[in-house]
Amino acid sequence: MEKDKILITGGAGFIGSQVNLNLNERGYDTIVLDDLSSGNHKTVIRGKLIQGSIANNDLLNSIFKKESIKAVMHFAAFTHVGESVSSPSKYYHNNVCATLNLLDAMANHQINYFIFSSSAAVYGIPTQDKLVETNPCLPINPYGQTKRMVENILHDYHIAYGLNYTSLRYFNAAGGDPRGLIKSFKRKEGNLIPLVLNSILDSTTLTINGTDYPTKDGTCVRDYVHVADLSEAHILAMEKLFKKGGESCYNLGNGQGFSIREVIHTTEKVTGHKIITVEGARRPGDPPTLLADATKAQQELGWTPRYPDLPTIIEHAWKARQY
Ligand SMILES: NC(=O)c1ccc[n+]([C@@H]2O[C@H](COP(=O)([O-])OP(=O)(O)OC[C@H]3O[C@@H](n4cnc5c(N)ncnc54)[C@H](O)[C@@H]3O)[C@@H](O)[C@H]2O)c1
Repeated sequence: MEKDKILITGGAGFIGSQVNLNLNERGYDTIVLDDLSSGNHKTVIRGKLIQGSIANNDLLNSIFKKESIKAVMHFAAFTHVGESVSSPSKYYHNNVCATLNLLDAMANHQINYFIFSSSAAVYGIPTQDKLVETNPCLPINPYGQTKRMVENILHDYHIAYGLNYTSLRYFNAAGGDPRGLIKSFKRKEGNLIPLVLNSILDSTTLTINGTDYPTKDGTCVRDYVHVADLSEAHILAMEKLFKKGGESCYNLGNGQGFSIREVIHTTEKVTGHKIITVEGARRPGDPPTLLADATKAQQELGWTPRYPDLPTIIEHAWKARQY
């Protein structure tokens, strides 16, 4: 029997490369489409890599014409909140306009299954301790806006063109392949754990942005979710979509919050290295606490995170940096 073939946009990136590996291990064929603007070809350890952009209509049409694609998992995007504030045009073009290209090319080739990498950034300032999917979506930066815009577009495409989709709202993706198979190559970073590891590897000082938040130790508290657990949620969501179709949206997080200082102390313990820190100003738009209520994903997808504890998340991220 022929294997189902999945197109993974942004599959040379941090999360997409993990999903690419795991899909192949679960018996799917994959094609990764990545322009390598932040991804690395060495992370695509299974499947086929096509280097190119989702903004390229001719390329999309030729892929969909040649390959029999059953579903698209869409990770390709620019991902830095701060940069989205200073360069919104770049973000709206790549994250929204290029996604429209992709959706239109899919519609032209009758490809009807889509998994979207959304984000906790769609919620903006949290209105309660743990966010649920029905909370208001009021993003406070262009990055979050782009994710929310695509969610709205997906809803309209579902109604008008019968697109079956799932939007997965990740909280702070972290960790690394548990077996160390995929390496994490150095690049521009916005996420805390890679920044902490970079400060060790480069012997630089780490700035803690804001130490006067109303949290347990004054620093921001975030919900760190292991990349392998995210990967599993994607496969479960896609398989549910194949069976039932429709449209849905799920938070993906552990519901457990760790402060910046806790991440730093745990990293020191896991790696055996001392981290030199300096206290800096708050970053505009950083809420004190951001936590997921992922009950819906647990109940409807049968998703149970395997690696919820912080030391394991950091240990796997550290292992991915050893190459
Ligand atoms: N990492 C997180 O904590 C987090 C949280 C919430 C949502 N997300 C979303 O998850 C997705 C993956 O995030 P990630 O952390 O793996 O980021 P990443 O930067 O590692 O991966 C994104 C990939 O997309 C590629 N890309 C960008 N624009 C492209 C284009 N036009 N055509 C083809 N490829 C393109 C990049 O080269 C990169 O390989 C993104 O959509 C991101 O917004 C990430």
